[in-house]
This record gives sequence, C-alpha cells and structure tokens, in this order.
Amino acid sequence: MSEQFDNTAGPLTTESGAPIANNNQSEAAGVGGPVLVQDQVLLEKLAHFNRERIPERVVHARGAGAYGTFTVTADVTKYTRAKFLSQVGKETETFLRFSTVAGNLGAADAVRDPRGFALKFYTEDGNYDLVGNNTPVFFIRDAIKFPDFIHTQKRDPYTGSQEADNVWDFWGLSPESTHQVTWLFGDRGIPASYRHMDGFGSHTYQWVNEAGEQFWVKYHFKTDQGIKTLTSEEADVLAGADPDSHQRDLRESIERGEFPSWTVQVQIMPAAEAANYKFNPFDLTKVWLNADYPRITIGKLELNRNPENIFAEVEQSIFSPAHFVPGIGPSPDKMLQGRLFAYGDAHRYRVGANADHLPVNRPHATEARNGNRDGFYYDGRHGGQKNYEPNSFGGPYETGQPLWAPIQVSGPTGEWETPKHSEDDDFVQAGYLYRLMSEDEKNRLVANLAGFIAKVSRDDIAERAIANFAKADEDYGKRLSVAVAELRAA
Ligand code: HEM
Repeated sequence: MSEQFDNTAGPLTTESGAPIANNNQSEAAGVGGPVLVQDQVLLEKLAHFNRERIPERVVHARGAGAYGTFTVTADVTKYTRAKFLSQVGKETETFLRFSTVAGNLGAADAVRDPRGFALKFYTEDGNYDLVGNNTPVFFIRDAIKFPDFIHTQKRDPYTGSQEADNVWDFWGLSPESTHQVTWLFGDRGIPASYRHMDGFGSHTYQWVNEAGEQFWVKYHFKTDQGIKTLTSEEADVLAGADPDSHQRDLRESIERGEFPSWTVQVQIMPAAEAANYKFNPFDLTKVWLNADYPRITIGKLELNRNPENIFAEVEQSIFSPAHFVPGIGPSPDKMLQGRLFAYGDAHRYRVGANADHLPVNRPHATEARNGNRDGFYYDGRHGGQKNYEPNSFGGPYETGQPLWAPIQVSGPTGEWETPKHSEDDDFVQAGYLYRLMSEDEKNRLVANLAGFIAKVSRDDIAERAIANFAKADEDYGKRLSVAVAELRAA
C-alpha cells in the first residue's frame, strides 16, 4: 500500500496544516447567533465530506477484494512467452476483486447474479488483468448489445426497480442468452461465498510462444474450498439478515489465516484448429468441450492479504481486459474487442486520468515509463524529465516487439454476425447443461425461472422466453411452461 501516514502524531489540523482549536463547535456570531463564513474548519470539513464519493462502477459496483500470490505449477513455455508463467515455482503478486453485476454499491451480496472475478497479476512486464466472471459464458456475443442488456438488468427509468418485463423481453429477443440464463438460474447462480465458487477468464485469449507460435486459451480457476451454493430461499434470508455476507466471509477467512485458493487451469487450442472446431471458439455464449480440449493445471492462486483501506484499494481499483503483457493478447471475440475500449474509458471517467498511478493500480514489479503527464491529481513523479519520444536525453524507447502475434483477417468490413461453425446454434449448449443437471437441480432451475417469468405482465413476452428453453430441450420447455402457467393461474 501507499506509505503510511501517522494520524496520531499531534493536534488535529486543517488540510493546510494549521492546528484546529475546536472540532465540536462551529464558530457563531455571538452566543446563540448564526454561523460565520470565516469558520474554515467547518467549511472545509463539510465541503470535503460532500466529495467523498466517486461515481460507482456502472456495472459490478458492489464488490470486495484481496491481495494474493499466483504460483506456477507446470511448464507452459511451449505455449506462451509470458514471463510470469516462465518457470515452475515462480510467484507473482496479485489483487482480486469479486463483485456482483446488477446491484448498486450498497446492494446485498447473496443474490442471484453472476459474480465478477477480476484478477490483476503484478508482473515484471507490467500488470496483466484477467477480468472474468464465475461463469464460463455470457448472455450476449457482441459488445454493441451490452448497454441494452445492462439497462434491462438495472432499474427501470419509470419504476426505479428491476422489472421482469424488461429482463425477459430482452432475453427472449436475444436467444443467445439461453445458455447463460440456464447457468444463472441453476444451483451455481447463487454462490454461498466468494470463496466457494470457480472463476473463469470466459473469453478466448491468445498465447504466443518464443517461436511466435499462436495458441488460443481459456482460463479456469477451480475453487479449492469446494463449490457451495445457496437456494433462492436461503439467499433471500441471508441477503436481508447480512447484506455484506460475502465481503465479510472473505475478510474474516483471511484474518483467520484460512487463505482461499484456486487451482488454475487452461484449455489450449492450437491456432490452426480454430477454423474447423465445431463451435466458433470466439463465441462467448459457448464453452469449449472438455472432451475436445482437456483442462491442464498450470498454477495455484491464493488470497492472503486484506486491503487496509477499502476505498483506496477496492473502490479505486481498476481492471482492464486491455492490460496485456508480452506473450498474451486478445482474440477476435467481438465482446472482448468492445471491452478493450470500455474499461479504460470507464476508469478515466470514474477514477480519473491518473487512475493508473494509484498504489493498487500501478505496476508493482516494474515501473510505468512514458510521456503521459499532468491531469487531475498528477503527483509530479516524473520531475523535470523529458515528456516526449524519441529523445536524445536517455528517455524510454520503443521495443519494436509487439506483445502478441498478428491475427489473420479476410473479407470486406461490415456488421457481420459471429460466424456459425458446424454445430453452432443458440440452444445446443444450454441443452447439454440442462441434461447434465440432477433431477433435483432441474426442479430448482425450473422453479427459479418460473417464479421470475410469472412476474412478466404480457403473455407474448413470457411465451417467447419459454420457447427458447424448449428449443434447448423439449422437457425443459414443457416443465417450464407448466410451472409458469400454474403460477400465473394462482
Ligand atoms: C462488451 C461487453 C462488456 C462491457 C462493455 C463491459 C463494461 C464494463 C464496465 C464499464 C465496467 C466498470 C469498470 C470500472 O468502472 O472500473 C465493467 C466491470 C466489470 N466487468 Fe464488464 N463489460 C462487458 C462484459 C463483461 C464480461 C463478458 C465479463 C466477464 C466475463 C465482465 C466482467 C466484468 C467485471 C469482473 C467487472 C468488475 C471489475 C472490477 O472489479 O473493477 N464484463 N464492465
């Protein structure tokens, strides 16, 4: 963290350092009289208080974080030249922020919602951020749909609440969401804590080795604590009784010295296989089947240190899918491509142009060196050094070595849909997932979905939503249709 500041060394002072005589009575014009504008102690204190909040994240506003260590446990140098992955036993400092998606900053933790799993590796080649979720897939496959999607999850402009009509209207009209919605309303949709869930990079990323060979990679973080979930009923009670349940659980377990950990695994696809895989490997609504690309264990992630100041280290923490290091790069996934823009832009708006300079955000194992300067809250770290490149004064220089390998493209520009591979449709993997569930889980899934769909005010919206699940699996659709009809008749 930042250098510690001794707040116990002397008298209270104003921000300009002048001693404060009275911090309990404001200065009045005579006994019982009105307050004076010359009372700088009062004015400064009230003004600073008014500025304590920064804009909350537009999504994932509610979260908790911790520092940790990533340790390499397998040799992956034939797949990537990333230095932090270059040696078995090598350790890298990390910071992980967990979150829910839809709720505002003060929302309860125990809700049905994906969990964010945003991981920063402080590597010697700069910070590598893997900004994933606890789900391997997502609701949509093109970034241009994200603001519309999120508007349906957040508060309606008229009612000020989340509305079943908006949620199911959008999902029904976006059939590619069927897989992720099936996942979300199943048992894993409400983790018992942040410690008892898996994490995923979700997107496909590029790895490139020393020889320049390319691989596509998907990341999995398997919880060593075991998966534990809450039913809808348990979650409703916990959310009311202890809104901070997940945040508290994480902090207290680290305080007790019970450090949560995850086994880190990857699926690797040689780049040449992408064109002919049965599913488009860059479609975020799909997984790669484990039978086709088995998971390989490559490391261990442990969380072992709580932040000292939640605002400084969690609220102001920033993660960007565009923060790559040599040996790792993006794939042509249209969602990921949109995210490469969205996060840096959000950070500059939410935390400011110098967000990257804050202790939690800056590189810890190297220095950031460039000609970027000034802006709000610039701390003058570059002193009088030159602020341009090239220069003849020994300033930083470009390397001429791109971080990742070029991606082959073809054809004219256009608003093309993500191409479909031989087995791609919007429902096939939702069907697999449904059929993998036990009878009990299927019952809970159908009850969870039906309870929500039954709140929709228009039959056509409810019917369209149910029809998507029926396309994934006939039995799934039938059960849902009966359950919704029963609830709507009641
Ligand atoms: C194109 C679609 C998406 C867009 C435009 C988008 C945009 C954003 C924005 C603007 C934030 C707030 C960032 C901040 O204020 O610091 C955010 C947070 C986040 N997003 Fe996304 N997002 C998208 C899809 C996804 C997907 C697919 C995942 C996971 C696989 C994801 C995971 C997260 C996480 C974990 C956070 C919280 C990061 C933190 O803890 O600070 N997002 N997203």
